[in-house]
Amino acid sequence: MTDVHVIGIGMTKFGRHPEHDAAELGGAALREAIEDAGIDARRIEAAYCGHVFQGMVTGQRILAHEGLAGLPLTNVENACSSGATAVREAALSIRAGEHDVVVAIGTEHLTSRFAGALTPDPSDPEAAVGATMPGVYAMRARRYMAEFGMSREQLALIPVKNKRNAARNPLAHFRKEISVADVLESRPIADPLNLMDCSPVTDGAAAVVLVSDRALRRHGADRAVRLAASALRSGSVDVEPTSMTFEPLTHNTANDAYEKAGIGPGDVDMAEVHDCFSIAEVLRVEGLGLFEQGAYPAAVERGDADIGGRLPINPSGGLLGKGHPLGGTGVAQVVEVVRQLRGEAGDRQIEGARVGLAHCRGGKAVGIEGAACTVQLLVR
Ligand code: COA
Repeated sequence: MTDVHVIGIGMTKFGRHPEHDAAELGGAALREAIEDAGIDARRIEAAYCGHVFQGMVTGQRILAHEGLAGLPLTNVENACSSGATAVREAALSIRAGEHDVVVAIGTEHLTSRFAGALTPDPSDPEAAVGATMPGVYAMRARRYMAEFGMSREQLALIPVKNKRNAARNPLAHFRKEISVADVLESRPIADPLNLMDCSPVTDGAAAVVLVSDRALRRHGADRAVRLAASALRSGSVDVEPTSMTFEPLTHNTANDAYEKAGIGPGDVDMAEVHDCFSIAEVLRVEGLGLFEQGAYPAAVERGDADIGGRLPINPSGGLLGKGHPLGGTGVAQVVEVVRQLRGEAGDRQIEGARVGLAHCRGGKAVGIEGAACTVQLLVR
């Protein structure tokens, strides 16, 4: 079976884009990815497009605008993992031997769809009792503080780190460094989480070009990065209460990816993880096995997760700093990992990074632990 390689990446600036819609943003990211790959667009054989709230046939609108109408195109909705799932589907179509050159696009124009806190589906009892996404994560933060003695200041160091990284990322939504005091004094959202503990409502898109071994031989492997594993799980039914401070869904998906790639958490040099809230980064890196359970807040305090630290987490700025355009996020994470592994991340470059991990997890539905989770492992 062929390996899958990323040969082109593209990403729009993340932020507010009142003058462009999701299809235009997706088109801009796709053009950049094709140009970065240095291929003739006529060689693309299929496309996958991840988005959540953009309505019918967003992917078709992108292809039509970019002169690529007619290709096999699949729109993918999988909550915050939509873009990451599009990457996985594209990779599977190559591994299956169906295609040699495939693009995956993730896009979202969230500012025109949402204001204020996102909620679970209105039909879910959680939504009926007012459990917004910030509310759900606030409860998990309180529980983690009680179980592992994390201080409020330690939690605040996560947005401080991620905003510092975002300040070095020209495509990030926010490029201003902040202090612990800024986090603690920002507007309360759901106690103990304040505004700076929450990912913002963001517009943006990203795209990647994926190829088979055969297409890579024709193209040349100079800047290619191998997608060693792309794992996906949906949340299983909670037959007993799921721990609020550990994520079996993240843990099990990561194990699928590690097993497929023959790579362990100890081999990972950097990771982009789904820090939709400050506490979420803690739960994710621990679920992924990158840090021991209960140990991450102190590790962040020591600088272990900084660029230049033992295991840099979210060098792009993460969702907290770079922004979180739902469908765009999972593809943008892959874009950042590829940039880092190619050594093209400029001011935020992690020296000698060879193995990168991208983790996305999103959505809620009554009775299950999270809706969708993806873990991708990339190797150079
Ligand atoms: N860092 C810095 N500034 C931020 C910010 C952040 N993390 N989040 C918002 N802001 C800024 C906005 O840019 C805006 O600035 P402006 O007034 O200069 O334009 C201001 O704060 C107010 O933002 P706004 O989005 O209007 O606030 P809100 O009260 O409507 O929503 C939240 C705030 C936290 C409730 C909302 O951003 C939210 O729900 N975030 C989480 C999104 C989510 O759940 N995603 C899915 C997770 S799985």
